[in-house]
Amino acid sequence: MTKTRLYTPGPVETPPQVLNAASGAMLHHRSSAFVDIFLETRNRLAEMAKVEGEDVIILAASGSAAFEAGLINTVPKGAKVLSINAGKFGERWFKVATSYGYEVVEYKLDWGNVADPLEVARLLKEHPDCAALMTTHSETSTGALHDVAAISKAAKEIIPDMFVLVDCVTSLGVCDVDPNTWNIDGMFSGSQKGLMSPPGLAFAWLSERAWASVNNLNSYFYMDLRKERAAQQKGQTAYTAAVGLVQSLNVALEMLLAEGKEAVWARREHMNQAIIDAAVSMGCTPFAERTSPAVAALRAPEAVAAPDIVKAFAKRGMTIAGGQDHAKPYLFRPSVMGYADSYDVITVVAALEDVLRELGQDVAYGSAVAVAMKYLNTTA
Ligand SMILES: Cc1ncc(COP(=O)(O)O)c(C=O)c1O
Repeated sequence: MTKTRLYTPGPVETPPQVLNAASGAMLHHRSSAFVDIFLETRNRLAEMAKVEGEDVIILAASGSAAFEAGLINTVPKGAKVLSINAGKFGERWFKVATSYGYEVVEYKLDWGNVADPLEVARLLKEHPDCAALMTTHSETSTGALHDVAAISKAAKEIIPDMFVLVDCVTSLGVCDVDPNTWNIDGMFSGSQKGLMSPPGLAFAWLSERAWASVNNLNSYFYMDLRKERAAQQKGQTAYTAAVGLVQSLNVALEMLLAEGKEAVWARREHMNQAIIDAAVSMGCTPFAERTSPAVAALRAPEAVAAPDIVKAFAKRGMTIAGGQDHAKPYLFRPSVMGYADSYDVITVVAALEDVLRELGQDVAYGSAVAVAMKYLNTTA
């Protein structure tokens, strides 16, 4: 028998009690029992996103829908926008905006790098008519964490009334996400990453200034965030709610908030770094300029093809992510951002020892495990 284990940067391992939350009798989405759960979930989500008392819209969709909705609800058709593209998901922002006919200025970086606020400022001076800036926070394809606060500050010094819209799909619940302090206007995420819930829910938070601009700027129907806001404040959704997914999310948020946001962030950062340090001891190289705690993006040792690492993990029942697009030959990306603890880190590292040995690398059994154990036990 091989036990299956999910160590990808989403979907992630999900606690049994989160899955079980959706296993009872089906609730009607307009019933008072569901309204209570929906309102509780909204409050917990807002607490997780540090926007207590504000609206985080819950959509029955995957994360990409939230940022698409955020853009088309706040920025008029045809407007000029600046898109930061340093990986697969930055590129998605670019594609979404292009597909709606926005005039997109692209700030393109090599994969692994993070946006330079000075360059953001320079580009905006060149394009002072930009209505919005879109960026990823945690760029999952490269394991890089952009400094959203610094980007937003630089942008708004040049164009104070522009909107800063941020894809926080693999940062919400993983590390500090603080929309008001960062002075951003849109924060978008999904259920299947740091919130260790099943896939299928997308979240959208907008600043009050952004809400004020939501006024039929483009053609949309299902993606009408104003309509959702009005319904969701009353514990309703404009259309049929994803009842079971909301029930699951509610339990997951309860667990994470009981642990404490800061404790969750510290734990995840610590676990991710333990994998990176252990992998470095076996000849792998961290890929990102500034590490996101959501994923250990690692360059394989010179003589090893990364897809072979991914395949060898699969042979052991473990799913990890490989590199995307041109990074496929050399990048692999295990992640423990879901329902995982220190012993999952040890499992990933022990498997990587085994896999690299199988692929011809000179790795002593237990050597990287020792690195990870020491890091996990000695660093706060
Ligand atoms: C940073 C980032 N943005 C967007 C997405 C897309 O999310 P979804 O697949 O939920 O639409 C992902 C998924 O991996 C992601 O990691």
